[in-house]
Amino acid sequence: MTKQELRNLLEEMSLEEKIDQMNQLAGGFFTEDSVITGPMAEMGITEENISLTGSVLGLSGAALLKEIQKKYMEKHPHKIPLLFMMDIINGFKTIFPIPLGQGATFEPELSGRLARIAAREASASGLHVTFSPMADLVRDARWGRVMESTGEDPYLNSLFTEAMVKGYQGEDLREEGSIAACVKHFAGYGAPDAGRDYNTVELSSHSLREFYLPAYEAGICAGSALVMTSFNTIEGVPATGNRHLMRKILREEMGFDGVLISDWAAIEEMIFHGYCRNRKDAALRAARAGVDIDMMAGIYSENFRKLVQSGEISMELIDESVMRILELKNKLGLFENPYKDADEQKEKEVILCREHRTLAREAARKSFVLLKNEEILPLDKKKKTAYIGPYTERRNLMGSWSLTGDEKDIATLKEAVMNSALGENAVFCCGSPMLDNDVSLEGFQDCIKEEIPREEQERMLAKAEETARNAEIVVMALGEDRLQSGEATSRADIQIPGIQQELFERVCRVNHQVIVVLFCGRPLDIRKIAEKAKGILVAWLPGTEGAGAITDVLSGDYSPCGKLPMSFPYCVGQVPVHYNEYATGRPHVPGKDKDRFRSKYLDIPNTPLYPFGYGLSYTEFSISPVELSSSSMTRQGQITASVMVRNTGNVKGTETVQMYIHDIAASVVRPVKELKSFLKVTLEPGEEQKVSFAITDRELRFLSENGIWESELGEFEVFIGGSSATENAAVFSLTL
Ligand code: BGC
Repeated sequence: MTKQELRNLLEEMSLEEKIDQMNQLAGGFFTEDSVITGPMAEMGITEENISLTGSVLGLSGAALLKEIQKKYMEKHPHKIPLLFMMDIINGFKTIFPIPLGQGATFEPELSGRLARIAAREASASGLHVTFSPMADLVRDARWGRVMESTGEDPYLNSLFTEAMVKGYQGEDLREEGSIAACVKHFAGYGAPDAGRDYNTVELSSHSLREFYLPAYEAGICAGSALVMTSFNTIEGVPATGNRHLMRKILREEMGFDGVLISDWAAIEEMIFHGYCRNRKDAALRAARAGVDIDMMAGIYSENFRKLVQSGEISMELIDESVMRILELKNKLGLFENPYKDADEQKEKEVILCREHRTLAREAARKSFVLLKNEEILPLDKKKKTAYIGPYTERRNLMGSWSLTGDEKDIATLKEAVMNSALGENAVFCCGSPMLDNDVSLEGFQDCIKEEIPREEQERMLAKAEETARNAEIVVMALGEDRLQSGEATSRADIQIPGIQQELFERVCRVNHQVIVVLFCGRPLDIRKIAEKAKGILVAWLPGTEGAGAITDVLSGDYSPCGKLPMSFPYCVGQVPVHYNEYATGRPHVPGKDKDRFRSKYLDIPNTPLYPFGYGLSYTEFSISPVELSSSSMTRQGQITASVMVRNTGNVKGTETVQMYIHDIAASVVRPVKELKSFLKVTLEPGEEQKVSFAITDRELRFLSENGIWESELGEFEVFIGGSSATENAAVFSLTL
C-alpha cells in the first residue's frame, strides 16, 4: 500500500478498530475457541477486542497461523491482517548457542547468519516478528538473563545487536525469509539492583548513555522495526511510562520511528511500581510516552475510548501509533499477502535442514571457551576415558528461551561421543542428579523433578567414583540446570549445584586427570573447580548441535577459540565485576596488597577469576610489543597500531587479537580500558601475521563534560593482546 492508501485506511477505521490495533494478546485467546478463563478473563478482554486485536504473541506453525489469519480476516471490517510475534532468541527449531555463547565467538557476522536462519525457519512457520535481539548490557552474573545478552562490553554488544537485526530483517521485510526484529529492553534492564530480576535500576545518566544505550542505538540504526520497553525504572520513572526516555532519547535523539511495544503487562506494572494510580492512569502515561502496543495488559483496549471521550488522549496520539503499526504490517507486505511466508511444505524443507544444523555446529564450536588446560586436552583417544556427570545424558542442551526447540532433535553427549572416534575408549556414568533435592525451579512447566533419596544419590556417587578410578581420564559434564538461567532466575549463589560439586570432589579424589565441560547460562563461581580440574571448557547451553561440537573440540578436530564476553567472577561477592571499570582515586596496584588504604578487598582479589576477552586454544600465540605508526595524531589524522601475532605451538589455531584504549586524563574519568577493535586470525604452527588497527578520532570519543561525544587532547594508551588483562601497551597523544 502507498502511504496515502494507509492514511485513507486509517481514516476509515472506527475508534474501536484503532484501539485494538494497539492491543496484543497471547496465543491462548486464539486457540481455545475463545472460551476465556482464568487470568485471561481477568484482563477484561471481550470477544470484540479479540476479533479486532492487532497482534498475537507466542504461536507458531504455518497451518495454525494461516487458519487463524484466515478466520480473523474474514471477520475484520477492514481486512487488516494480524501480526504474529514470538520470542525467537537463539534459533527457532534449529537452536544455536545462547546469546552469551554467541558473544564468546567474537564473530557478530556469524550471529547475523544465525539470525537469518532463525528468520527463515520462523517465517516459514508463519511468524512476522521476533522479540530479539536483547541489547541489554550486563555486569552482574546473579541476573539470570545475562544468558540473553552478548555480555559486558558496549562495543561488542553493539556489533552483535546490529548484525542480528540485519540478519532477521534482511534487505527488505517483504522478502521471503525476513522477519522484523525488536530491540529490547529499552532501557537499562540489564542493571537490576543486586542482580534481582525486575528490580530497580539505578544508573547515572552518564553511565546509561555511555555504557548502556550504545547497543540499543546500534540496533535502531540498523533499522530494527520494533523496540520493546523495559520493566525497570529509569531515574525513578518506569521505562514504559517514561516520556523523556521514549520521546526524547529514543524517538528524537536516536531517530527511532518504528513500533514501540511494552514488555509483557509492563503497562499494568506501573501501578505496582507506585507510579500510576490505576489502569486508566497507566494507559494514559504509556500512551503519552508513545508506547504503540500494549502487550498482554488489556489496558489500552479497556481505557482508550473513555480517555478519548474525556479529551485526556487526543485522536492524534492514537492515530500516530496506529499508523506505525499499519506501516509495519505494510512493510512486511501483509496487506498483499497476509500469510507472508507461512508454508507447510517450506516449513518441512527448511526447519532443521542440513545447512542449518551445520551452522549450528560451527557456532557451538566457536562459542566454547577453554579456560584451563594443563596438557590434558585434546583427549588422547587411546586412553580409557570416563564421561561422568548429569550432562552426559541430558538431551536438552537449549537455553530456557528456546520455546520452540524440541529436545528430541538433539543428541546427548554420550550419543555424540559414541558416534565419534572418542567412542572406542569411552565409558559413561551420570554420577548424580542435576539438582539437589531442595532446589526448586518454580513456575517452569518442565521442571517437575523427582526427589532422589540420599541413599540413591550415594549409590550414584559411589558408582561414579568407581568408574573414575578405573579410567585414565575423566571428562565431567557439569553445570547449572538449563532452567537456572533466563527470565526470573536470579541466583545469589552462582556455583554449580551442590550435589554436582560433591560429585566433582569425589571424582577428583580418585582420579587427578579431570576435565570439566561446563554448561551454564551465566558466568559461575568456579574457584573450586579451577583448583582441581586440569582442563575447563565452557560450553554454555550450546543448542541442537552442541554435543557433536563438544566432541569436535575434545577430540582435537577443532581447536577452541572462544573468548569470554563477560568476566567470570572470583566469587559472588565481587559482582558486578567488569573489565571496563574506572580506576578510582585509590587504585589497587598489584603486588601492593599490604597497602591497606586502597580500593580492594581484604579477602579476595580485585580481578575476576577469568576476565573479559580471555580464552585459550590448543596452540599458543605470541603477540609482539605494540608499534605505532606515529606517537601523535590530530583529529583529522590517524595512527596505526600494529603487532606481530605468531602461532608458537604445534597445531593450527585462531586468536582473537583485541585492541583497547585508555584515555589517561579527561574531563570525566575514563575506564581503565575500552575495547575498540578486534580481529580473529587463524595461523598454522610457526606462521605469523601482522595485525594492524587504525585509530581515528572516532575511537577516542566519549561523553565529555559537555554532554557530547567528543575527543579531548592528551595522552592515550593503546593495548593489544589476547584478553582484557593485557598490559602490552604503547602511548600516543592527540594534538591540535
Ligand atoms: C520478557 C520479554 C519477552 C516477553 C514476551 C517478557 O516476560 O521480559 O523479553 O519478549 O515476555 O514473551
